[in-house]
Amino acid sequence: MKLKGKIKPSIPLWIALGLGLLISLLVFRLVSFSAKVTDYYTPAVLVSEDFVEAAEHLRDSLGQKEPAASTSMVRIHFRSSFQKFRKFMALFHRDGLHFNAQVIEVGDEVLALLAAHNFNPLPNRLDKLTEVASQNLRQHQEEIRRAKLNIQFSAYLVALLSLLLLGAGFYYTKLELRLQEIREQEAATLSAIKALVNALEARDAYTKGHSARVARYALQLGKALNCCSCDLDALELAAIMHDIGKIGVPDQALLKAGKLTEEEYGLIKKHPRIGETILADSAHLEKIIPGVLLHHERFDGTGYPQGISGDRIPLMAQIISVADAYDAMTSTRPYRQALSPKQAMEELKRGINTQWEQKIIECFIQTLQNPDSTSQLEFFLQPTPGNPPTSVPKSGARSN
Ligand SMILES: [Fe+2]
Repeated sequence: MKLKGKIKPSIPLWIALGLGLLISLLVFRLVSFSAKVTDYYTPAVLVSEDFVEAAEHLRDSLGQKEPAASTSMVRIHFRSSFQKFRKFMALFHRDGLHFNAQVIEVGDEVLALLAAHNFNPLPNRLDKLTEVASQNLRQHQEEIRRAKLNIQFSAYLVALLSLLLLGAGFYYTKLELRLQEIREQEAATLSAIKALVNALEARDAYTKGHSARVARYALQLGKALNCCSCDLDALELAAIMHDIGKIGVPDQALLKAGKLTEEEYGLIKKHPRIGETILADSAHLEKIIPGVLLHHERFDGTGYPQGISGDRIPLMAQIISVADAYDAMTSTRPYRQALSPKQAMEELKRGINTQWEQKIIECFIQTLQNPDSTSQLEFFLQPTPGNPPTSVPKSGARSN
């Protein structure tokens, strides 16, 4: 049973889980790029800078008057830097670090020329070495720049997604609290309705269970007529409460076993209006007012309280009218005997186009032959201690 105000969370849980997974992946990416910067992008730049500097010093020293004597320290620096460069690149090249093999190739040529004291080709080879080593260095610097951008991007994205997740969690929690509040209000309303229905039926032992049975018939008929689920909820509740206005009808009329006087019948006919008044104070229940107020209207317009006819009578009220009449006919009252289901169905057919619409009666008879007892208000069917059973015989006929 659901009243109005249903709220479905617009941020499903799986979206929150997706955000969490995305944040985890971004954090992993953040850690990975940070490790690359620390472990080899930055050292690669330092090693490359040192090697380029050593190559430039060696080239500059060759222009001096006594190159062999003046460049001994520079040559040592060059060899040392070159060895570090070669070792570092060999170590991290497999991890995707950029590496220009031409640097090693030309560096080896320079070392061989130095070992052979063949200085003439050296300036040319060192120019080449400086060129390719500088290119290599610029590549490493670009790798660092990209890695830093990736780190910044990932960090900002993690922060943004975390904020989104926080906001979604806050929103979802508020929705859950609102849903919980609505559920509690629904439960309280249903308890109040049950108390009202019990109070009404306690006045007349012979009508005990009537409201619940009408609700069951109405629900089956509503389903057969393809009412949407929202209407079915309201329909079932309206059927339960259709006669709630009888609480305001005096015992002398409501419980009278014999024929009613005009005045007494007038009192009985007030119960739809009284029911409307009772429900009007509850925002939760206003949707069911048409079913309660108009369940005694007739298809030909001779019903009460408004005397409307045909399609002007809401479907909810027409359904309750049929269910109410059928249960009244098949139940025993002090003033008349119960009809058999077959007899009651014949009576319903006789009321086509006067009391009820043809398609509704035909559909109802079909549902009686294929019942589907899926009422969500089964607790209304549970017997209340102290009340007599409903199956008592004998005569008369009155439908209020
Ligand atoms: Fe009624």
